[in-house]
Amino acid sequence: MKILGTTVVALMTVTSGQALLSSCPNIPSSLYPYKTAPGWSYVKVADGLHSPRDLIFDSQGRLLIVEKGVGLSQHIVDANGCITNTRLLIENADLNHGICLSTNEETLYASSPSSVFSWTYDPTTGNVGRNPGLVISGMATSGHTTRTLAIPPHRTDLLVVSHGSNSNVDEDTSNPKVARAIVKVFNISSIPMGGYNFVSQGWNAGFGLRNEVGLAFDGNNMLWGVENSADNLARTVNGTMTDVHTDNPSEELNFLGDVTLANDDWYGYPVCFTVWSPDELLDRVFKVGQQFVQIPIPDFNDDTCTQISVPPTLSFQAHSAPLGCKFDARFSDLFVAMHGSWDRQPPTGYKVVAVPFAQGPDGSYAPTAASWSIRGSIDVFYPPDETQCSSSTCIRPVGLAFDAAGRLYVTSDASGEVFLLSQG
Ligand SMILES: *[C@@H]1O[C@H](CO)[C@@H](O)[C@H](O)[C@H]1NC(C)=O
Ligand SMILES: *[C@@H]1O[C@H](CO)[C@@H](O)[C@H](O)[C@H]1NC(C)=O
Repeated sequence: MKILGTTVVALMTVTSGQALLSSCPNIPSSLYPYKTAPGWSYVKVADGLHSPRDLIFDSQGRLLIVEKGVGLSQHIVDANGCITNTRLLIENADLNHGICLSTNEETLYASSPSSVFSWTYDPTTGNVGRNPGLVISGMATSGHTTRTLAIPPHRTDLLVVSHGSNSNVDEDTSNPKVARAIVKVFNISSIPMGGYNFVSQGWNAGFGLRNEVGLAFDGNNMLWGVENSADNLARTVNGTMTDVHTDNPSEELNFLGDVTLANDDWYGYPVCFTVWSPDELLDRVFKVGQQFVQIPIPDFNDDTCTQISVPPTLSFQAHSAPLGCKFDARFSDLFVAMHGSWDRQPPTGYKVVAVPFAQGPDGSYAPTAASWSIRGSIDVFYPPDETQCSSSTCIRPVGLAFDAAGRLYVTSDASGEVFLLSQG
């Protein structure tokens, strides 16, 4: 467990917790025993779901969960946080990840690989209208196909959509016009007939982002994202290739900023990657968080990255696979669901971590750890030994959602479970 001395206290005092039951009625115990940070506890609230991915609450406290390959399920939650009633709200096998509600909760949005759909939503009854509208189409259907959706808290007219690359190193995405490995913004106050085209319309909230699955707005409504970086990287210098993939590149926490304006900054993918372990890149002295290229050439090398690419604000262990991310109500921690690795021995991830944040003198939010730190997060919900993890021995965290009491729900797609984490 990684702990920064000063941040444990912050973590203990920020969320108003409530004691959890040791189990929820009619819910079998967790498939795999997990641990929690001091002061935290967990209870399993759902079992046997079909690949649960992102999830949200409506203002009436109903939980809406995308079950990949099935559709969208709705769950009634009691005061203990346990689920008492469940129904399939939308049957649509194409839905695979993204979900959000308009600010007035009268429109529900969900995504398939290619499209974003909308339904009318009645927050009083929790019912949806029959026929979905098409909000956005024209997204790629291969490679990374989760389309995370988010509406800025202060701008009810904007929908943010994340679109990953279509391969490990998707060469064409250095041009933002191909509209992959990108986060884009669309004005949903008026949607053109037949919906927006993802590629040709909307504006950018950053590109060169390989697969920015988690999106979260800070207390100033600035957008942050967590990025799944590349697999199987090697470094080739003077014709000698070195495998650097076990501990490189970093997974990333990126600052994407104000989505009301276009952000045309390039964050490095598919050329500039971020150093997690300088020990694997021996031809040069690197710092954690600095960017590097796989094959330095005179025209484009590590120094070019420093000049023209935006590095992450914070790095995470290579291959930990950050998916969902959410700030707590006070913006003092960004919680991140680490889905867990496949491209590394021993495995890593399979846990939920907290990244302590603080406001600077100018009021802006940032992680308390420096960009070169490898201790920028604290394990909150984690396996007894992550080096032994696989899809059949550990939870695979995906989506995160806070309830009104400040308790944190976590989906695990591989195990079909949902957990509730609380302090106290
Ligand atoms: C979205 O469109 C509406 C109506 O055309 C407009 O009033 C609003 O300013 C637009 N929002 C942004 C951020 O461009
Ligand atoms: C690569 O070759 C150049 C030119 O011969 C040399 O200056 C440099 O030190 C070499 N780099 C490494 C890592 O061997």
